[in-house]
Amino acid sequence: AYNERESLYIILNFAKDFFRNNLTTEEGRAIGLSYFKERGFNQSIIDKFDLGYALDGWDNLLKAGKQAGHSEELLLKAGLILQKEGDEKRLYDRFRGRVTFTIHNLGGKPIGFGARILTQDKKQPKYINSPETEVYHKGDTLYGIFQAKKSIREKDNCYLVEGYTDVISMHLAGIENVVASSGTSLTENQIKLIKRFTDNVTVLFDGDAAGIKASLRGIDMILEGGLNVKAVVFPQGEDPDSYSRKVGSKEFSDYLIEKAQDFIAFKIGLYADEAGKDPIKQADLIKQIVSSLSKIPDPIIRTVYVRQSASLLDIDEDIILTELNKIFIKGE
Ligand code: UTP
Ligand code: MN
Ligand code: MN
Ligand code: MN
Ligand code: MN
Repeated sequence: AYNERESLYIILNFAKDFFRNNLTTEEGRAIGLSYFKERGFNQSIIDKFDLGYALDGWDNLLKAGKQAGHSEELLLKAGLILQKEGDEKRLYDRFRGRVTFTIHNLGGKPIGFGARILTQDKKQPKYINSPETEVYHKGDTLYGIFQAKKSIREKDNCYLVEGYTDVISMHLAGIENVVASSGTSLTENQIKLIKRFTDNVTVLFDGDAAGIKASLRGIDMILEGGLNVKAVVFPQGEDPDSYSRKVGSKEFSDYLIEKAQDFIAFKIGLYADEAGKDPIKQADLIKQIVSSLSKIPDPIIRTVYVRQSASLLDIDEDIILTELNKIFIKGE
């Protein structure tokens, strides 16, 4: 007999195989596979990431799972099916008529799925994801970590992106040290996970207001975790997936190297234009920088960055140190 966790891994692996196999059916080829091909995803990347297709029906996975001897209870616990409210308590598949992205744990076992809609239907969310289960904790997981870990260690750097397709397109562009936060704010455990492989993170969030906001929050979280952070800004409306396909692998790789800025320069760049010569806005900019500096746990590293900030902001180091002390006193 298996314990519950083992049973969950088995049913999730079954679902992964089911979704993958659906890509070879007539419906899957016409809808799922052609969608992936349109996005430039070839068979080898489909295999590498266990991409698949959830058939457009209410109970395809439910039926197949039961036929293979899995219980309804287990399918429910794995987050693969849902129970309809009401007296009938009808069971139905969570993922329907969508392409699927398998979420693997560090060891490569499937623990959940993201599923993308194929049309521009504004009434439905673009992605539906597995719920929290016994084996899937969103805040402990980074999409792509299994496929990335070796490269993160070798390159001693980890690119952090927002989405599933950003990770996949970067692999296609030859960059494998990349993981996605999957659109939520970073957690301490996700940062600890990265820290097992490297101390260096480069944040590549989408070139829109939401992406910039998320990257600012992410940067402070990463600093607090004691890691070094850089950031790359993408042109308005572009994300790593769209931009890499737009400019091609070579130019994309060069862009990442050329545009990677230390977090201080990144923050200054964001606020500087606005701040201009307005002293109030300038003071605000300094406070923004100091707030990030206060997150750095190592005093030696902090000192190095204080010096760098003073030089970039063209102000005296003492001004920054005074502001820093205010924060530290408040914190005690
Ligand atoms: P984005 O909206 O940037 O989507 O969300 P994307 O990754 O660029 O997707 P494509 O290119 O349009 O296919 C970033 C990430 O946020 C999560 C997903 O993990 C997505 O990859 N997200 C987004 C959701 O979970 N649900 C949503 O409805 C939207
Ligand atoms: Mn647990
Ligand atoms: Mn986005
Ligand atoms: Mn995006
Ligand atoms: Mn995208």
